Amino acid sequence: MRRVLVFLLAALAFSGGQALAQTVAVLCSPALAWCEQLAPTFKTATGVDLEFIRLSSSESLARLRAEAANPTFDVWFGGTGDPHLVAFNEGITEFYKPTLWDDLLPSLTRSVGETYTPLYTGAIGFVVNEGVLNEIGAPVPTCWTDLTDPAYRGLLAMPNPNTSGTAYTVIATLVQLFGEETAFEMLADIHQNVAHYTRSGGAVGLLAGRGDVGVAIQFLHDGVAYIKQGFPVTNYAPCEGTGFEIGGISLVSGAPSRDAAIAFIEWALTPEAQSIAASRGESFQVQSNSNTPVDPDSPDLSALKLIDYDFATFGSPEVRDRLVGKWTTEVFPVPRR
Ligand code: F6P
Repeated sequence: MRRVLVFLLAALAFSGGQALAQTVAVLCSPALAWCEQLAPTFKTATGVDLEFIRLSSSESLARLRAEAANPTFDVWFGGTGDPHLVAFNEGITEFYKPTLWDDLLPSLTRSVGETYTPLYTGAIGFVVNEGVLNEIGAPVPTCWTDLTDPAYRGLLAMPNPNTSGTAYTVIATLVQLFGEETAFEMLADIHQNVAHYTRSGGAVGLLAGRGDVGVAIQFLHDGVAYIKQGFPVTNYAPCEGTGFEIGGISLVSGAPSRDAAIAFIEWALTPEAQSIAASRGESFQVQSNSNTPVDPDSPDLSALKLIDYDFATFGSPEVRDRLVGKWTTEVFPVPRR
């Protein structure tokens, strides 16, 4: 911690002989409650102001791509890892090695290498409103293949991969578990059962919680947030195994306030900063710093059957854009019967 404080103070005092810019512009992709808490706590810790816009992961990638020649953001905070890798591969973000790199969970840093910095991790699953399913006489789905059953017509909600990184993680997971051809057949069947596609990955659990649908496909840590808010939902992990994210933090290439950006990244990886997530009652990912306490309600990833997620392949711009494009042209437009 001392190392980070020394770094932060030095960065704040000097920046190539210049005073550090007093505002950092953050593109923020986790739950809004976490994003909103960043500015006051970062200001208290460093004296630097923070402005943010909250966009889902795929929307953030689109925004950063559109602004690549003239970036307005300094840091991309949170969001699923695949689009962080895409941004790195395209030179839209650059790798910055934080002083706390060695304190981060080695399983996470090993998986992404020196591309972006892991911020948290969490696994995909089903957030189920059993009351809704009972009323219709549909069983609780426990496997990915269950979701293709017409018994779930109008009972599912999932996010749209054009905006949401959660949805892309679902597609990448199915492709890795079943192969691309079968995965897209399954996505076509699942599409027939989907009542709502949402813009953000977090939103689907609210639809299940309110009883609009019986099953939300999303990160299990988002399910925990709805359970803690009192919604009648339960988390299930798919029997075949499931995919997971290594949510990221990236320095934007050509960041207008690079030194303030680096100060923010250094701060964001401290246990103090990472503990904000769960304290707001909405973000129960496992945080990347091994010294950040894991909230007792966070899903226990070691108890889940996680796939050996191929981050390099599914974070490549070609693969990601092709799979999202294929879903958009071949699955999404098909009328639901
Ligand atoms: O709500 C939090 C969260 O699930 C993060 O864990 C994840 O990185 C992010 O949302 C993904 O959001 P979206 O699917 O909207 O891109």
